[in-house]
Amino acid sequence: MNEKTITVLGAGYVGLTTAALLAHAGYKIYVIEPNQKRLDVIKTGRSFFYEEGLDVIIKTAIDAGNLVPTDSYEDSVPQSSVVFSCVGTPDNPDGSSNLSYVFGAAEQAAALMQPGCVYVQKSTVPVRTGERIEAMFKEKGIDVAYVSNPEFLREGTALYDTLFFDRVVVGGNDKKAVERVLNLYRDLEAERETIARLAEVESHPRKGKYISTSLNSAELIKVSANAFLALKISFANSIAKLADKVDADVVEVMDAVGADERIGRAFLNAGRGYGGGCFPKDVSGLISSGLENGVDLEVMQAAQAVNQSMPGYVVEKLQDSLDSLIGKKVAVLGLAFKSGTSDVRKSPGVAIANVLSKQGAIVSAYDPQANEEAEADLLRAVRLTGSWRDAADGSDAVIFATEWNEFRELNPTEIADALTGTAVVDAVNILDKQATNEAGLRYIGVGRS
Ligand code: UGA
Repeated sequence: MNEKTITVLGAGYVGLTTAALLAHAGYKIYVIEPNQKRLDVIKTGRSFFYEEGLDVIIKTAIDAGNLVPTDSYEDSVPQSSVVFSCVGTPDNPDGSSNLSYVFGAAEQAAALMQPGCVYVQKSTVPVRTGERIEAMFKEKGIDVAYVSNPEFLREGTALYDTLFFDRVVVGGNDKKAVERVLNLYRDLEAERETIARLAEVESHPRKGKYISTSLNSAELIKVSANAFLALKISFANSIAKLADKVDADVVEVMDAVGADERIGRAFLNAGRGYGGGCFPKDVSGLISSGLENGVDLEVMQAAQAVNQSMPGYVVEKLQDSLDSLIGKKVAVLGLAFKSGTSDVRKSPGVAIANVLSKQGAIVSAYDPQANEEAEADLLRAVRLTGSWRDAADGSDAVIFATEWNEFRELNPTEIADALTGTAVVDAVNILDKQATNEAGLRYIGVGRS
C-alpha cells in the first residue's frame, strides 16, 4: 500500500472528475470503469460525456502516468491508501435508490483493501447506508475506516465546483480518517489555480469551508442540500403559475424576492422544472427515507408533484395558443436536462417532446450536445435534426427547453424567418419577451404574464 496511491471506483461525472483532479494534486490515481467501451474512450485521454475542461485534465494526467484507467480491482485497490466509491445509484421503480452497485463495489473492495485503508463514499446514498457498510467491513474483520464525503459538484461546471468549492464535508466515526480525506482536498486546493489555467475554467478566490461531521449527518447533508434547491425551483414554478393568472412576471418577482440575502436569487428560475440524475432521485430518496423512519416529508412531496406537472404545463400553454396540437409541427430546442452537459436523464426537454408527440403534434427536436444521448428516450415519431434551423424550419411553433447560449444568442427575426407559425414558448425564460413580440412572434413564457 502506498500513501500517495488512490483508487476511484466508477468513472461517471463524479468519479472521473475526482480522479482526474487528484491526479494533478500529487497522487497516483487508478480509476475503475467496468464498461469496456467507456474505458477505451477514457484511455485515449477523453471523457465519454461532455464536461467543460475535463478532457485536457484527463489527457495530461494519463500522459504523466498519474491517472490509470482500468477495469481491475486487483491491480489497483491493494496498492491504495484511500478508495473512493463513486458508483451509480439508479432509481428503483418505487423511486428509492438502487444500492446494488454501492454494496457490490464495497464488497469487492473489502476483499482487497489493506489494513489502514480509508473507504470514502462519494455516491449519494440514503442516510444510514454507511452504517450498514461499516458493519459489513467489521463482520469481515478488516481494518478499514469508512467515511462519507458527499459531492456537491454540478454537471457542466464540475471542475470549477470541485476546485473552488463552497464546502468539503467529510463525516465518519474515525476522526483520523476524516482528517486524512480533508487533507486530500487541501492538497487539491494548493494546485487549483494551475489546474484551472490548464483546463481554461474560470478561477475564483473563494475560501471554501472544511467541515467534519458524524457519518449520518454527512449523508443527510447531501440529500438535504439537493432537496432544498429542488424546493426553491418548485416554489418559483408555483409562483410562475400564479403569475400567469394574475398578469405578473415571475422574473421580476424572483429578482426582488431573491434580493433578500436570507433568501438568495439562485435556483429561483422558473420554467419547465428540474431534471438530471440528482434532484429527481434525491427528492424521491429523501421522501423514502422519511417514510421508512415514520416521517412524512409532505413539503418534498409537494415539490415533486409541482415538478412533475411542469412539462405538461408547458405543453398546455402551447395548446391554448394553437387551439389544437393535432397535426401541428412543433420544434423542441434543447434536450439536455440543462446547458453545458449532454446528460438527458429525467430531462424536461425530452418529456416535453414526448408529451407533444403523444398529443398528436409532429415533433422535431435538436440539442447542441445531447442528440445522441436523447435518441433512446424519445418516442420514435420524434425527428432529431442536426441544427436548430432544421428543426424549426416550417414549424408552427418552437419550444425552448434548455438554456444553451446558442439559443440565447438567436435573433428573434431568425426564428421568425424559420417558422411558418408564430408561437414561441420560452420554457427556460431565456428570450427577450419584447424583442420576440416585435419580430412578429407570440412570446409564451412560464410566469411571464
Ligand atoms: C445538482 C446540485 O446543484 C449539485 O450541487 C449536486 O452536487 C448535484 O446535483 C449532485 O447531486 O450530484 P446538477 O444536477 O448537475 O447538480 O444540476 P443543477 O445545476 O443543480 O440543475 C438541476 C436542474 O434544475 C436542471 O434541470 C436545471 O435546469 C434546473 N434548475 C436549476 C431550474 O429549473 N431552475 C433553477 O433556478 C436552477
